[in-house]
Amino acid sequence: MLMLLTTIIGVYSAICWLYENFRTPVLLLLRGAQQLLLGGRQSLSEKYGPWAGSSDGIGKGYAHFLASQGMKVLLIARNEAKLKRVAEEIAAKHGTETNILVVDFSKGEEIYDHLEKELRLLDIGILVNNVGVINEKPIQVEQMEKRLLWDLININVGAATLLCNIAVPAMKERRRGLIINISSLSSLAPTPYLAVYAATKAYVTSFSLALREELAPHGIECQTVSPGYVHTSMTEYLAPTTDGQKNSLSIRLVETNDMIRYAGYSIAKVDKTTGHWSHGIQTAILNALPASLKLRVFTKLYTKLLHEYSDKAKKRT
Ligand SMILES: NC(=O)c1ccc[n+]([C@@H]2O[C@H](COP(=O)([O-])OP(=O)(O)OC[C@H]3O[C@@H](n4cnc5c(N)ncnc54)[C@H](OP(=O)(O)O)[C@@H]3O)[C@@H](O)[C@H]2O)c1
Repeated sequence: MLMLLTTIIGVYSAICWLYENFRTPVLLLLRGAQQLLLGGRQSLSEKYGPWAGSSDGIGKGYAHFLASQGMKVLLIARNEAKLKRVAEEIAAKHGTETNILVVDFSKGEEIYDHLEKELRLLDIGILVNNVGVINEKPIQVEQMEKRLLWDLININVGAATLLCNIAVPAMKERRRGLIINISSLSSLAPTPYLAVYAATKAYVTSFSLALREELAPHGIECQTVSPGYVHTSMTEYLAPTTDGQKNSLSIRLVETNDMIRYAGYSIAKVDKTTGHWSHGIQTAILNALPASLKLRVFTKLYTKLLHEYSDKAKKRT
């Protein structure tokens, strides 16, 4: 009897794990093959609308990819000079129309009336909710500057939420559109010493998956992207230094272009992805662990990293 029960639980768990981790790659293969064999694929601008909104880092990668697919690109971030440079680079490379919007999401509520007016002027077909910040090194919550705590909340949680609130009504009227929410592999488990960042990303995943269900009946798609470590300015501190010094997380960072090639291919095919096959494997391994064990793994990893950073700081003083 015990044997039978164990077998049933084992088989059921294996089916759940397979479904959760192989649904995206299988759908990608099927939909890719379908497009290849049957053709007739609409361009992204035909399917969703002409304009895409995004920012730097992973967002810049998306902006280039979407421009290469014929979309007009609106870049949103704080640094006007950088925005202009990237907009010119995209226009020159892909021959598409670009525009910029200087916004500081850390300011919270006060910016959104203006943002709403500006966004209403454009037919936003694809919105990439990419803006995000992280604490630069593992740190205890009580030692974090209050400003950084507000930034994590206003930028990682506030921007994605309010931008969806602003973009969705027009998308509903047009009965088309795609929202891409960039979450993170950190959303898979609570992460000590990166507690607030991981919690903001758990919010993004939960929000995005629920939003997908709300929007589907209106012909609008919502994709949740949960990458592991990607080499951008956000993770520069993890990259090995020029003298080759590594830390516990200096595993091979995925280059932004490699991630975007995979994540770009997944657009209009799947509603959930890690954005890169290697992150898919990491996620599948973590998903094989029960929640309490996942937490133990993250605790061990980030406690080690916390000590490595405090050792480094001590050496510097
Ligand atoms: N890199 C990774 O390993 C990784 C892994 C998983 C998930 N993610 C997620 O991917 C997203 C993008 O990260 P990334 O690695 O591409 O970071 P990044 O290179 O630092 O880019 C972040 C972007 O956000 C903009 N930004 C930052 N603060 C802002 C503010 N207050 N107001 C307006 N714009 C602001 C930055 O532009 P300005 O500085 O000009 O404002 C920049 O365009 C984030 O949501 C992050 O959590 C990243």
